[in-house]
Amino acid sequence: MRIAVIGSGYVGLVASACFAELGHNVTCVDNDLTKIAALNAGEMLIHEDYLQELLHRHRGARLIFSSSIVDAVRDSLVIIIAVGTPAAASGEADLSYVESVTREIAQCANGYKLIVEKSTVPVYTNAWIRRAMILNGSGLDNFDVVSNPEFLREGTAVSDFLYPDRIVIGANSERAAKIIRELYHPLIHGTYSRREGAVPRPDGARVPPLYLETSAQSAELIKHASNAFLAMKISFINAVANLAEAVGADIEDVREGIGSDSRIGSSFLRAGIGYGGSCFPKDIAAFQSVAREHGYHFELLEQVRKINQEQLQRFLKKIRTALWTLKNKRLAVLGLAFKSGTDDVRESPAIRIIQALIEEGCLITAFDPAAMEKARTLLSESVTYAPDPYTAAHGADALLILTEWKEFAALDLPRIKQLLNYPVVLDGRNLYTLQQMANAGLNYYSIGRAPVEIFHPMAQRKAAE
Ligand code: UGA
Repeated sequence: MRIAVIGSGYVGLVASACFAELGHNVTCVDNDLTKIAALNAGEMLIHEDYLQELLHRHRGARLIFSSSIVDAVRDSLVIIIAVGTPAAASGEADLSYVESVTREIAQCANGYKLIVEKSTVPVYTNAWIRRAMILNGSGLDNFDVVSNPEFLREGTAVSDFLYPDRIVIGANSERAAKIIRELYHPLIHGTYSRREGAVPRPDGARVPPLYLETSAQSAELIKHASNAFLAMKISFINAVANLAEAVGADIEDVREGIGSDSRIGSSFLRAGIGYGGSCFPKDIAAFQSVAREHGYHFELLEQVRKINQEQLQRFLKKIRTALWTLKNKRLAVLGLAFKSGTDDVRESPAIRIIQALIEEGCLITAFDPAAMEKARTLLSESVTYAPDPYTAAHGADALLILTEWKEFAALDLPRIKQLLNYPVVLDGRNLYTLQQMANAGLNYYSIGRAPVEIFHPMAQRKAAE
C-alpha cells in the first residue's frame, strides 16, 4: 500500500520506518528542508533503538523522504497526519499545523484518500478535519478520516509500534476500516513477529495485539485518557512517597505491595522527581482544556499537575537540607534526559533542577549517556560536561542522580565515594537500596525513604583533617 506520513517528528519518523518495515511504500514528508536533507543523508536525528537499522534497511527503497506534500498525497492512498500539536498558552492543543496540512491535502488530492490522524489531538479533531476537507473543496465520497492514536514511548518507540498492546481505530465508515485493517494486517494477524529479520519481540508483548474499532470521539478520548491515567499513577505514587517519608515507611516496599495487586499493576509506580517529556505535561493540560470546553471541570488532573510540580521543589529542598548552603557548591549531575533510553530533554525534570541550582550559585558538572548535546542548547554555559560518571564525581561536593539510566544503577560506589569531596548522594530516581549505600559509606537521600546518614559530611571532613 502507498502511504504518505506528514511530519517527521518522533511519531512521524518512527511510523514511517515501521510502516515500511511492514511492507508498505512510504513517503515521509516534512517542510523542514534541513531535516529532509539530513534524513536522506542517513543522519540519525533521534536516539531510538532499532530506528537506525530500519531506516538503513528501507531508505531509498520502500521509504523516501520528501518536502513535497503535493507529490506525496497524489502518490498515496493513505495520508497519515503526524505533525506537532504544541500547547498554546491556555493549555489547549494548538491545531494550526493539523489544519494547514488538511487544507493542503484537500487542495491537491487526486481521487479517494484515507486521512489517518495520528497526532495527539483533542476530541472532535476528526470532525474538524472532515469539515476542513469539505470547506476546501473535497467531495464527501473522496475521503474518510480515521483517528488512530499512537501509544509509543520514547526510548522503546520502534518496539512499541511493532508490538503494541492495542491498535485503536476510530473510523466512521466501513470503507475506511477495511483499508486500515490492511495497513496493520501483519500486526493484527501476528505475522510480523514471525518474519525473518523482524525487530525482536519484547518480553511479555501481546501478539497479536487487541484491535479495537471505535467511534472517532472514543479513539480520541482513549489517547488523552491513557496519558492522563499514567501521569496520575506517577503523581499518586509520588504523593504516597511524601507520606512514606513523613511516617518512616519505605516507598519501594509500599510500591511492591500496591503494584502486586493485579487490579493496580506495578508499572508507572516508580516514585521520583516527577514526569516530564514532550507528552505528559502537554497532554494533561490539553485534556483538562478539552474537558473545560465541554463543561466538565476535571479537577483531578489539576492535582496530578500540582503534585508533579511540587515534587521537583521538594527534591530541591532535599538538596538544600543535605548540603546546608548551595552557593559555590560543586555538584556532579548524572542524567539530563527526561527519562532513560532517550536523548530528549524537553520538559526534563533534570534540566529544571539544574537551572534552579545554577540560580542558587552551584557549579554543575553533568554526564548523560545520550542527552548532553541537546542539553547544551538549554543550559547556561557555566555547566561543564564529563565523559563518564566518575569524571563528573571527581572533586564534587555531592552526586545527584536525575535520570533512571541503567548504568547509573550500577556505579562502582566505593570509587564514587573516593572521588567525591563529601560522601553525599541525592538520588531522584531511587536506583539504589539503602543497604547498598550504607555499605558503601555514603550519605544517601532518595525519594519516599529514610535518609542514610552515615555521619554528617562536615564531621567526616573534620575527622579527615
Ligand atoms: C508517554 C506514554 O507512556 C506513551 O504511551 C505515549 O504514546 C507518549 O507519552 C505520547 O503521548 O507520545 P513518553 O513521554 O515517551 O511516553 O515517556 P514515559 O515512558 O511515559 O515517561 C514519562 C515520564 O514519566 C518520564 O519523565 C519518566 O521518567 C516518568 N516516570 C515514568 C516516572 O516518574 N515514574 C514511572 O513509574 C514511570
